[in-house]
Amino acid sequence: MAAPTLSLPLPALAEQFLLRRDMTFLNHGSFGACPRPVFDTFQQWQRTLESQPVEFLGRRLPDLLRQARAQLATFVGALADDLVFVPNVTYALNIVARSIALQPGDEVLGITHEYGAIERTWRYVCLQRGATYVNQPVELPVATYDEIVEQIWRGVTPRTRVILLSHITSPTALVMPVAEICRRARAAGILSVIDGAHAPGQIDLNLAELGACYVHSSIKVMNRFSMSIAKARTCNPAKVSGNRSSSHASRQTRAIASTLRLAKR
Ligand SMILES: Cc1ncc(COP(=O)(O)O)c(C=O)c1O
Repeated sequence: MAAPTLSLPLPALAEQFLLRRDMTFLNHGSFGACPRPVFDTFQQWQRTLESQPVEFLGRRLPDLLRQARAQLATFVGALADDLVFVPNVTYALNIVARSIALQPGDEVLGITHEYGAIERTWRYVCLQRGATYVNQPVELPVATYDEIVEQIWRGVTPRTRVILLSHITSPTALVMPVAEICRRARAAGILSVIDGAHAPGQIDLNLAELGACYVHSSIKVMNRFSMSIAKARTCNPAKVSGNRSSSHASRQTRAIASTLRLAKR
């Protein structure tokens, strides 16, 4: 069989990165390299900050963040007020996992293609609340989206409260049928939590249409922006609680929860 040919302008794309040219770099997930224009812009902002930190952090930052949120909203098809900046995806998903009022006996359904740190977070939270994390197998190879949906849905029981799903899976690079899963979850009264770590910049997004309870994305392909999104519009507030401890993280959680207009228990 003839070797597949790539139609992508790879040499031109390689120019866009600072990576050494004597190696083939394949990990654009966990430790992805930053494209030159992003890196340059990132450094310009750092220099601006360092040239007058008080002016930048004390006076300009809130407006700059507001502008960034508005531009981001257009990019991902959401309302700016539904977006919150947090340090990274792990942080964002911890906020969500720890803010949902899981009860003993509840189930959280994930699939066997979730990112390790995120799966461990949900397992930990489930253990604390007396809930169960169900790791639903999605067997490879799969031929159709319908097949994936059916495999995932086999894990749903009357006790399922949350479905956790990566938009693009980390270990297997599959684009998941999140719209259909969210639609079914909504109809069944289940919260859908989408880990969108790799989605923005790689696939077109319309978060408003998706209607997921939460979507968390860092723009992995544009690393260094450390940008994450949390979105909540269609979820049932009664199922979500604020964290009651007084740590900085929980103050931030409460601030984010209130931005998300989520009710505290
Ligand atoms: C699917 C997925 N979710 C979450 C993460 C964690 O992202 P972060 O390190 O930005 O918290 C990753 C990291 O690569 C990932 O691939």
